[in-house]
Amino acid sequence: MYLVEGPEMYKIISKREIAPNIISLEVAAPLIAKRVKPGQFIILLVDERGERIPVTVADYNRENGLIRIVFQVVGKTTAQLSQMNEGDQLFSLVGPLGNPSEIDNYGTVVTVGGGTGIASVYPITRELKEAGNRVISIIGAKTRDLIIMEDEMKKASTELLVTTDDGSYARKGFVTEILDEVLQKEKDVKKVWAIGPAPMMKAACEVTKPYGIETIVSLNAIMVDGTGMCGSCRVTVNGETKFVCVDGPEFNGHLVDWPEFMNRLARYGQLEKLCFEAYRNACREENG
Ligand code: FAD
Ligand code: FES
Ligand code: MG
Repeated sequence: MYLVEGPEMYKIISKREIAPNIISLEVAAPLIAKRVKPGQFIILLVDERGERIPVTVADYNRENGLIRIVFQVVGKTTAQLSQMNEGDQLFSLVGPLGNPSEIDNYGTVVTVGGGTGIASVYPITRELKEAGNRVISIIGAKTRDLIIMEDEMKKASTELLVTTDDGSYARKGFVTEILDEVLQKEKDVKKVWAIGPAPMMKAACEVTKPYGIETIVSLNAIMVDGTGMCGSCRVTVNGETKFVCVDGPEFNGHLVDWPEFMNRLARYGQLEKLCFEAYRNACREENG
């Protein structure tokens, strides 16, 4: 784990809005770019007084020292981050954190990405294919505009299936319906990765369970320190307490206590809403 320092560190080198409210940033972080592996994340601070937020490393370039993050604006800190521009510097960036995905040559595998989970599943998909797997990928979002990284995913997979909940693009339906179809057809799937909103990951595990296929999920628990000290990211897996930041973020989804996980995700909902409203009001006042 590195804490990157120096005048050029954490500088935003490129910024792109790749879908409404979904932003892709390339940030200078050479030490992280050198070491990070698929499945790992960073924790960043936008400014000195801000909160620490975890974000998956969606891509990295070991030569030019850049890492890519893709995030959705869902509250105050992601809104603040979305206001930063090329040339601006993040206050701090720590990583790589968490355990890398277990990449091996399994045979046929399926990777599933929902919403911004597509950005998290992308490097895993790419690495699985590079390791010799036949990788069937399924990506989905609510509507056409929210499908991200389709070209990258196409290149990274052996076969890519795209779905939208409202049928505005590609197949109509949830990624889990397509997953079920794939598993009915493909008799030799060895492992599934499913990354996205908690209800999607839970549903994907329900689909794969009758087939007895190990299903890896990446839990987006609320984190503070990211070092296993504060207990914020506590989850129960197979009846044991685990900390997502140091024991995860990937776990066997069939063993996760989903109701507890989802309850804990929503535990600051009221405060987060108030905080986002206060931030938006302050921005409005500042802009006249
Ligand atoms: P808030 O209004 O504060 O919260 C909105 C919701 O975001 C909350 O209800 C909660 O579910 C979640 N959240 C809030 N604070 C935290 C926190 N400190 N840690 C984790 N979740 C929080 N999002 C992306 O868009 N792209 C990613 O690649 C990505 N990768 C993640 C990787 C990991 C390992 C984890 C744990 C989370 C990841 N997230 C990712 C989620 C991201 O951290 C939250 O969306 C972000 O913290 C929200 O902050 P906010 O202040 O804008 O929203
Ligand atoms: Fe504090 Fe995981 S974020 S223990
Ligand atoms: Mg917040």
